[in-house]
Amino acid sequence: MDLGLSGKVVIVTGGASNLGRAITLGFAKEGARVVIADVDDEQARKVESEAPSGTIIARHTDVTDWESVSSTVDFVESSIGGVHVLVNCAGWTIDRLFMEKPRSEWEREIAIDTWGFINTVRARIVSIGSDAGRMGEWREAVYSGTKASVIAMSKSIAREVGKHGITLNVVCPGLIPGSPETSGRESVWASEQSKMFTPEVREKAARAYPLRRLGTPDDVVPAVLLLASDRASYITGQTLSVSGGYTMI
Ligand SMILES: NC(=O)c1ccc[n+]([C@@H]2O[C@H](COP(=O)([O-])OP(=O)(O)OC[C@H]3O[C@@H](n4cnc5c(N)ncnc54)[C@H](O)[C@@H]3O)[C@@H](O)[C@H]2O)c1
Repeated sequence: MDLGLSGKVVIVTGGASNLGRAITLGFAKEGARVVIADVDDEQARKVESEAPSGTIIARHTDVTDWESVSSTVDFVESSIGGVHVLVNCAGWTIDRLFMEKPRSEWEREIAIDTWGFINTVRARIVSIGSDAGRMGEWREAVYSGTKASVIAMSKSIAREVGKHGITLNVVCPGLIPGSPETSGRESVWASEQSKMFTPEVREKAARAYPLRRLGTPDDVVPAVLLLASDRASYITGQTLSVSGGYTMI
Protein backbone atom coordinates (compact mmCIF):
# COMPACT_ATOMS: atom_id res chain seq x y z
CA MET A 1 0.00 0.00 0.00
CA ASP A 2 1.38 3.40 -0.93
CA LEU A 3 1.09 5.45 2.24
CA GLY A 4 1.67 8.70 0.37
CA LEU A 5 4.51 9.70 2.68
CA SER A 6 6.85 10.69 -0.15
CA GLY A 7 7.81 14.36 0.16
CA LYS A 8 6.29 14.72 3.63
CA VAL A 9 8.31 16.60 6.23
CA VAL A 10 8.66 14.57 9.41
CA ILE A 11 10.32 15.35 12.74
CA VAL A 12 11.31 12.34 14.86
CA THR A 13 12.32 13.26 18.40
CA GLY A 14 14.81 10.80 19.83
CA GLY A 15 15.34 9.67 16.23
CA ALA A 16 19.01 8.76 16.74
CA SER A 17 18.69 5.54 18.74
CA ASN A 18 16.97 2.17 18.71
CA LEU A 19 13.20 2.64 17.97
CA GLY A 20 13.65 6.26 16.83
CA ARG A 21 16.42 5.22 14.45
CA ALA A 22 14.24 2.47 12.90
CA ILE A 23 11.29 4.91 12.57
CA THR A 24 13.54 7.57 10.98
CA LEU A 25 14.91 5.09 8.43
CA GLY A 26 11.35 3.79 7.81
CA PHE A 27 10.11 7.27 6.83
CA ALA A 28 13.25 7.87 4.73
CA LYS A 29 12.56 4.66 2.79
CA GLU A 30 9.05 5.96 2.04
CA GLY A 31 10.59 9.09 0.50
CA ALA A 32 9.87 11.49 3.38
CA ARG A 33 12.33 14.20 4.50
CA VAL A 34 13.13 13.38 8.10
CA VAL A 35 14.61 15.62 10.78
CA ILE A 36 16.13 13.86 13.77
CA ALA A 37 15.53 16.06 16.83
CA ASP A 38 17.87 14.58 19.42
CA VAL A 39 20.46 15.62 22.01
CA ASP A 40 22.96 13.01 20.83
CA ASP A 41 24.53 14.69 17.78
CA GLU A 42 27.09 11.98 17.12
CA GLN A 43 24.56 9.15 17.00
CA ALA A 44 22.11 11.32 14.98
CA ARG A 45 24.82 11.96 12.35
CA LYS A 46 25.46 8.23 12.16
CA VAL A 47 21.79 7.62 11.29
CA GLU A 48 21.86 10.60 8.86
CA SER A 49 24.64 8.83 6.96
CA GLU A 50 22.56 5.64 6.60
CA ALA A 51 20.25 7.26 4.00
CA PRO A 52 20.93 9.14 0.74
CA SER A 53 22.33 12.63 1.36
CA GLY A 54 19.70 15.25 2.27
CA THR A 55 16.98 12.70 3.15
CA ILE A 56 17.70 12.74 6.88
CA ILE A 57 18.85 15.88 8.68
CA ALA A 58 20.18 15.80 12.24
CA ARG A 59 19.26 18.85 14.31
CA HIS A 60 20.35 19.18 17.93
CA THR A 61 17.15 19.49 20.00
CA ASP A 62 16.42 19.08 23.69
CA VAL A 63 12.73 18.21 23.96
CA THR A 64 12.63 19.31 27.59
CA ASP A 65 13.48 22.86 26.49
CA TRP A 66 10.74 24.88 24.77
CA GLU A 67 13.26 27.30 23.16
CA SER A 68 15.23 24.42 21.70
CA VAL A 69 12.08 22.78 20.25
CA SER A 70 10.82 26.11 18.83
CA SER A 71 14.18 26.80 17.22
CA THR A 72 14.10 23.37 15.52
CA VAL A 73 10.55 23.91 14.25
CA ASP A 74 11.56 27.38 12.90
CA PHE A 75 14.63 25.83 11.27
CA VAL A 76 12.56 23.09 9.60
CA GLU A 77 9.86 25.50 8.42
CA SER A 78 12.35 27.97 6.94
CA SER A 79 14.77 25.49 5.39
CA ILE A 80 12.59 22.51 4.41
CA GLY A 81 8.93 23.50 4.69
CA GLY A 82 5.91 23.05 6.98
CA VAL A 83 5.98 20.05 9.29
CA HIS A 84 3.45 17.36 8.29
CA VAL A 85 4.22 14.76 10.94
CA LEU A 86 5.73 14.68 14.40
CA VAL A 87 6.82 11.40 15.91
CA ASN A 88 7.31 11.84 19.61
CA CYS A 89 9.82 9.13 20.37
CA ALA A 90 12.37 10.64 22.77
CA GLY A 91 11.94 8.94 26.11
CA TRP A 92 13.91 7.78 29.09
CA THR A 93 13.58 5.46 32.05
CA ILE A 94 15.64 3.33 34.38
CA ASP A 95 14.10 0.12 35.62
CA ARG A 96 13.96 0.43 39.41
CA LEU A 97 11.47 -0.06 42.26
CA PHE A 98 9.58 3.15 43.10
CA MET A 99 10.92 3.32 46.66
CA GLU A 100 14.50 2.85 45.46
CA LYS A 101 14.49 5.50 42.75
CA PRO A 102 16.24 8.77 43.55
CA ARG A 103 14.29 11.94 42.86
CA SER A 104 16.72 12.90 40.08
CA GLU A 105 15.55 9.86 38.06
CA TRP A 106 11.85 10.69 38.54
CA GLU A 107 12.59 14.24 37.44
CA ARG A 108 14.41 13.06 34.33
CA GLU A 109 11.50 10.74 33.41
CA ILE A 110 8.97 13.55 33.84
CA ALA A 111 11.16 16.12 31.99
CA ILE A 112 11.71 13.95 28.91
CA ASP A 113 8.58 11.78 28.80
CA THR A 114 5.95 14.33 29.89
CA TRP A 115 7.39 17.79 29.16
CA GLY A 116 9.03 16.45 25.99
CA PHE A 117 5.53 15.56 24.75
CA ILE A 118 3.97 18.89 25.80
CA ASN A 119 6.77 20.96 24.22
CA THR A 120 6.58 19.25 20.85
CA VAL A 121 2.87 18.81 20.11
CA ARG A 122 2.25 20.24 16.64
CA ALA A 123 1.15 18.85 13.19
CA ARG A 124 -0.01 15.20 12.72
CA ILE A 125 1.27 13.44 15.76
CA VAL A 126 2.23 9.87 16.54
CA SER A 127 3.66 9.46 20.01
CA ILE A 128 5.53 6.48 21.29
CA GLY A 129 3.84 5.59 24.56
CA SER A 130 4.40 2.26 26.26
CA ASP A 131 2.32 -0.65 27.46
CA ALA A 132 3.61 0.47 30.87
CA GLY A 133 1.27 3.46 30.48
CA ARG A 134 -1.72 1.19 29.81
CA MET A 135 -1.31 -1.40 32.53
CA GLY A 136 1.24 -0.05 35.05
CA GLU A 137 4.59 -1.82 35.02
CA TRP A 138 6.51 -3.24 37.94
CA ARG A 139 9.68 -1.19 38.67
CA GLU A 140 8.43 1.53 36.29
CA ALA A 141 6.02 3.57 38.44
CA VAL A 142 6.80 7.15 37.42
CA TYR A 143 7.60 6.14 33.84
CA SER A 144 4.21 4.36 33.62
CA GLY A 145 2.62 7.57 34.88
CA THR A 146 4.37 9.69 32.24
CA LYS A 147 3.27 7.32 29.45
CA ALA A 148 -0.32 7.19 30.77
CA SER A 149 -0.28 10.98 30.63
CA VAL A 150 0.94 10.90 27.01
CA ILE A 151 -2.07 8.67 26.20
CA ALA A 152 -4.58 10.89 28.08
CA MET A 153 -3.13 14.19 26.81
CA SER A 154 -3.18 12.87 23.24
CA LYS A 155 -6.91 12.11 23.59
CA SER A 156 -7.69 15.50 25.11
CA ILE A 157 -5.74 17.44 22.48
CA ALA A 158 -7.19 15.23 19.71
CA ARG A 159 -10.67 16.41 20.79
CA GLU A 160 -9.56 20.05 20.70
CA VAL A 161 -7.75 20.07 17.34
CA GLY A 162 -9.77 17.53 15.35
CA LYS A 163 -11.73 20.34 13.69
CA HIS A 164 -8.47 21.41 12.02
CA GLY A 165 -7.84 17.91 10.64
CA ILE A 166 -5.02 17.30 13.09
CA THR A 167 -4.75 13.79 14.52
CA LEU A 168 -2.95 12.43 17.59
CA ASN A 169 -2.42 8.73 18.18
CA VAL A 170 -0.16 6.69 20.43
CA VAL A 171 1.77 3.53 19.62
CA CYS A 172 2.69 1.45 22.67
CA PRO A 173 5.59 -0.98 22.37
CA GLY A 174 6.35 -3.70 24.88
CA LEU A 175 9.92 -4.50 25.86
CA ILE A 176 12.23 -3.85 22.90
CA PRO A 177 15.88 -4.30 23.81
CA GLY A 178 18.28 -2.01 21.95
CA SER A 179 21.70 -3.04 20.69
CA PRO A 180 24.99 -1.22 21.34
CA GLU A 181 25.40 -0.64 17.56
CA THR A 182 22.12 1.23 17.18
CA SER A 183 21.75 2.92 20.59
CA GLY A 184 23.19 6.33 21.42
CA ARG A 185 25.03 7.39 24.57
CA GLU A 186 21.80 8.71 26.20
CA SER A 187 20.00 5.45 25.51
CA VAL A 188 19.04 3.30 28.43
CA TRP A 189 20.35 0.43 26.27
CA ALA A 190 23.83 1.95 26.50
CA SER A 191 23.68 2.13 30.30
CA GLU A 192 25.13 -0.27 32.85
CA GLN A 193 21.61 -0.93 34.04
CA SER A 194 20.57 -2.55 30.76
CA LYS A 195 22.99 -5.40 31.53
CA MET A 196 20.25 -6.79 33.78
CA PHE A 197 18.48 -7.88 30.58
CA THR A 198 20.62 -11.01 30.19
CA PRO A 199 19.66 -13.60 27.54
CA GLU A 200 17.98 -15.62 30.34
CA VAL A 201 15.95 -12.61 31.52
CA ARG A 202 14.93 -11.84 27.91
CA GLU A 203 13.89 -15.45 27.34
CA LYS A 204 11.81 -15.44 30.52
CA ALA A 205 10.21 -12.10 29.58
CA ALA A 206 9.37 -13.40 26.08
CA ARG A 207 7.27 -16.16 27.65
CA ALA A 208 4.86 -13.48 28.94
CA TYR A 209 4.12 -12.45 25.33
CA PRO A 210 1.44 -14.44 23.46
CA LEU A 211 3.62 -14.30 20.33
CA ARG A 212 6.47 -15.72 22.48
CA ARG A 213 9.16 -13.25 21.47
CA LEU A 214 10.27 -9.73 22.36
CA GLY A 215 9.80 -7.02 19.77
CA THR A 216 12.38 -5.34 17.57
CA PRO A 217 12.47 -1.65 16.57
CA ASP A 218 11.35 -2.65 13.06
CA ASP A 219 8.19 -4.23 14.49
CA VAL A 220 7.02 -0.76 15.56
CA VAL A 221 7.71 1.07 12.29
CA PRO A 222 4.67 0.00 10.16
CA ALA A 223 2.13 1.17 12.76
CA VAL A 224 3.89 4.54 13.07
CA LEU A 225 4.07 5.03 9.29
CA LEU A 226 0.39 4.14 8.85
CA LEU A 227 -0.81 6.46 11.62
CA ALA A 228 1.39 9.25 10.23
CA SER A 229 -0.07 8.90 6.73
CA ASP A 230 -3.18 10.42 5.16
CA ARG A 231 -4.54 6.87 4.91
CA ALA A 232 -5.14 7.15 8.67
CA SER A 233 -6.73 10.61 8.53
CA TYR A 234 -9.96 9.31 10.17
CA ILE A 235 -8.12 7.75 13.12
CA THR A 236 -7.49 9.98 16.09
CA GLY A 237 -7.20 9.72 19.88
CA GLN A 238 -6.35 6.02 19.63
CA THR A 239 -3.80 3.90 21.46
CA LEU A 240 -2.35 0.91 19.64
CA SER A 241 -0.20 -1.67 21.40
CA VAL A 242 2.49 -3.17 19.18
CA SER A 243 3.71 -5.71 21.67
CA GLY A 244 3.06 -9.25 20.53
CA GLY A 245 -0.27 -9.33 22.38
CA TYR A 246 1.29 -8.51 25.77
CA THR A 247 -1.46 -5.98 26.47
CA MET A 248 -5.00 -6.57 25.27
CA ILE A 249 -7.19 -3.65 26.31
N1 LIG B 1 12.74 -0.05 24.15
C1 LIG B 1 11.66 -0.42 24.86
O1 LIG B 1 11.62 -1.51 25.47
C2 LIG B 1 10.46 0.47 24.91
C3 LIG B 1 9.24 -0.08 25.35
C4 LIG B 1 8.10 0.74 25.40
C5 LIG B 1 8.21 2.07 25.04
N2 LIG B 1 9.40 2.58 24.64
C6 LIG B 1 9.45 4.00 24.28
O2 LIG B 1 9.93 4.12 22.95
C7 LIG B 1 10.72 5.31 22.83
C8 LIG B 1 12.12 4.95 22.32
O3 LIG B 1 12.71 3.96 23.16
P1 LIG B 1 14.19 3.42 22.87
O4 LIG B 1 14.38 2.16 23.61
O5 LIG B 1 14.44 3.49 21.41
O6 LIG B 1 15.02 4.58 23.62
P2 LIG B 1 16.57 4.97 23.54
O7 LIG B 1 16.94 5.34 24.94
O8 LIG B 1 17.40 3.94 22.83
O9 LIG B 1 16.56 6.29 22.63
C9 LIG B 1 16.01 7.49 23.09
C10 LIG B 1 16.57 8.63 22.27
O10 LIG B 1 16.06 9.85 22.83
C11 LIG B 1 17.12 10.78 22.90
N3 LIG B 1 16.86 11.74 23.96
C12 LIG B 1 17.00 11.57 25.30
N4 LIG B 1 16.72 12.71 25.95
C13 LIG B 1 16.38 13.62 25.00
C14 LIG B 1 15.99 14.98 25.03
N5 LIG B 1 15.89 15.65 26.20
N6 LIG B 1 15.73 15.62 23.87
C15 LIG B 1 15.85 14.95 22.68
N7 LIG B 1 16.21 13.66 22.58
C16 LIG B 1 16.48 13.00 23.73
C17 LIG B 1 18.37 9.95 23.17
O11 LIG B 1 19.57 10.64 22.82
C18 LIG B 1 18.10 8.72 22.29
O12 LIG B 1 18.62 8.95 20.98
C19 LIG B 1 10.74 5.97 24.22
O13 LIG B 1 9.71 6.94 24.29
C20 LIG B 1 10.43 4.80 25.14
O14 LIG B 1 9.86 5.23 26.35
C21 LIG B 1 10.52 1.81 24.56
